[in-house]
Amino acid sequence: MGVQGPSILDKGDRPRPVASVAGSPDRKEAMQRQAVLIAVFGTSYPDAAQAFERFGTHVRERNPEAELRWAYTSTVVRRKLAARGHHTESVEEALEHLAADGFRSIAVQSLHTIPGAEYHKVRGDITRFRHRETARDTHIAVGKPLLCGYADTVRVAKAMLAGAPAQRQPDDALVFMGHGSEKHAADLFYIALASVLGRLDPRALLGTVEGHPTLDDVLEACRSGGCRRAWLLPLMAIAGDHALNDMAGEGDDSWQSTLTRAGIACTPVLSGTLDNPGIRNVWLDHLTAALMSLRAPFGESGHIPLF
Ligand code: CO
Repeated sequence: MGVQGPSILDKGDRPRPVASVAGSPDRKEAMQRQAVLIAVFGTSYPDAAQAFERFGTHVRERNPEAELRWAYTSTVVRRKLAARGHHTESVEEALEHLAADGFRSIAVQSLHTIPGAEYHKVRGDITRFRHRETARDTHIAVGKPLLCGYADTVRVAKAMLAGAPAQRQPDDALVFMGHGSEKHAADLFYIALASVLGRLDPRALLGTVEGHPTLDDVLEACRSGGCRRAWLLPLMAIAGDHALNDMAGEGDDSWQSTLTRAGIACTPVLSGTLDNPGIRNVWLDHLTAALMSLRAPFGESGHIPLF
C-alpha cells in the first residue's frame, strides 16, 4: 500500500514536501521497523558514489530488518545531480519522507570524519525536523561521526596503517589527506589522530586541506625524516573531489605536485575510508549503538550526547 494523503497522525495542515513513491513500505509494518538514514556530504563523481553503495551493503548485512535511506547534505552536489536527472534528498526531506511512510524509529548515521560543521549541520536539520507536527511520536538517534573520542582515534589510526599499500617499503612515508576545518574546534581531532598515528608509525603523516595539521607540516616532517617516497591516501569517506584534485591532481597546488617538487616521489591511492574495513566498522559500530539506544526503554532512547 502506498501512502495517499495525510494519515490521522497528521493534522493535515501541511502538504508533504516529498511524494511517496510506488513500492513504499506498508505503514503499519513501517511503524514496527527501524529505519537507518545515512547522511553524507555527497559527491557528483559516480565512481566515488559507488563507495556509498558498497557501504550500504554492509549496513544491510548488519541490519537486515531496517529500512535504509540516504541523504546528501550538500545543496551544490544535490543540484548538480538533479541537473543530470538524479534525485537525492536532504536530511530534512528524507526524515519527512520516512515519517510519511510511517517510520517512527530512525537512526541517523553521518559519514563525517569529525564532529565538525557538517556533522552539526545534520544535527541542526534533525532538530528542525523534530519541531514539525509530522515528527510527533518519531524517535531519532544520531550516530557518532568517525572520530569521537580516544578509543575511536586509536582504532582508526590502526586501521589506517593496516590499510597501507602492500608495496610500501619501510622508508616510504604514508601521507593521509583529511578535510580539516578552519572554522570548527573539532579540527583538533585531526591533531589528536596525527599524534596517535605518529606514535604507531613515525612515517605515517596526516595533513588536512582546510585545517591543521597542514600540508606544510607534512612537508616538514618528510624533510626531517629524509623521506624520498610517499603514498598519498585520502582520509575521507570517499575518494571524491578533494582526493582527485587537491591530493592527486595535476595542478601546481596539489599535494602530489608540491611533494614531488620537494623531491618526494608520490603514488596516490584513490580509495576512501569507507573501503577500509577497520574504519568502516567504526562507523557501523556507531550506527549499531544508535539503533540500540532506540530500543532502550522509553525515556532513554533518542539523543546520544556528544560532549
Ligand atoms: Co571540502
